[in-house]
Amino acid sequence: MAGMLQGKIALVTGGSTGIGKAASLVFAREGAAVVVSDINVDGGEETARTIRDSGGQAIFFKADVSRRTDVETLISRGVEAYGRLDCAFNNAGVAGTIGASTHEYPDESWDRVIGINLKGVWLCMKHEIPQMLKQGGGAIVNTASIWGLVGAPGASAYVASKHGVVGLTRAAALEYAPQGIRINAVNPGTIRTPILDPFILATPEFESMMTARHPIGRIGMPDEVAEAVVWLCSDAASFVVGQNLPVDGGYTTQ
Ligand SMILES: NC(=O)c1ccc[n+]([C@@H]2O[C@H](COP(=O)([O-])OP(=O)(O)OC[C@H]3O[C@@H](n4cnc5c(N)ncnc54)[C@H](O)[C@@H]3O)[C@@H](O)[C@H]2O)c1
Repeated sequence: MAGMLQGKIALVTGGSTGIGKAASLVFAREGAAVVVSDINVDGGEETARTIRDSGGQAIFFKADVSRRTDVETLISRGVEAYGRLDCAFNNAGVAGTIGASTHEYPDESWDRVIGINLKGVWLCMKHEIPQMLKQGGGAIVNTASIWGLVGAPGASAYVASKHGVVGLTRAAALEYAPQGIRINAVNPGTIRTPILDPFILATPEFESMMTARHPIGRIGMPDEVAEAVVWLCSDAASFVVGQNLPVDGGYTTQ
């Protein structure tokens, strides 16, 4: 049976590990050729190789999403490689400093978190959208977070960046829906990926604390977010526009 995205071209940022790697594999399973991108070259090459080894099409390009020229080059090399861009998953992100109150939050960490998590998503859309307009359509999914929908103490830059992604997704969705580009976001709860490592190192009971906050009684797995992302990019979600979909085991329903 043909996959949901047979013959489509998908771009994934932050594709070396975690949610981005899982999404790259699900895009490929559904028949898309995948442009994998990250600043982590070894991990990104490994994701692309895994796809090729199982008979799919994938290519890796290094790009820092907070740098305009990197993003510009990434999109043009992706289009050069596969001819078009149907789906984009703007997912690269960092946690930054956690546990610092707003008045003590380090300037450098603030700029880095906003630069990657928020400006990075905008820069990606800025360069993906012209290609999609040229083709007459496409689908974009941005990675926000439960912390784009509710607050959390000690993580002001991260919370602000993810609330920014939620707003940016809504604004852009309204601008481009009439032209056939559907833009949505996913808002993951706590998901078992390398982004959690520093938290678990600092607070060994972190995972049990987070488990207790998710009504489903566990934290999530990268695949569970990846399936939602690929569905949002597919024609099965053809009437879904401008939504911020929680994939969070009930966290934001409380
Ligand atoms: N894991 C969670 O609990 C969770 C929850 C909500 C939202 N998120 C979001 O999901 C996204 C993916 O995170 P993850 O959990 O898979 O973590 P991760 O650390 O495994 O993946 C993030 C990836 O982004 C890459 N990256 C970092 N800075 C980059 C840059 N400047 N340019 C390009 N790539 C860069 C990293 O190298 C890494 O491969 C992030 O936006 C994160 O904020 C994660």
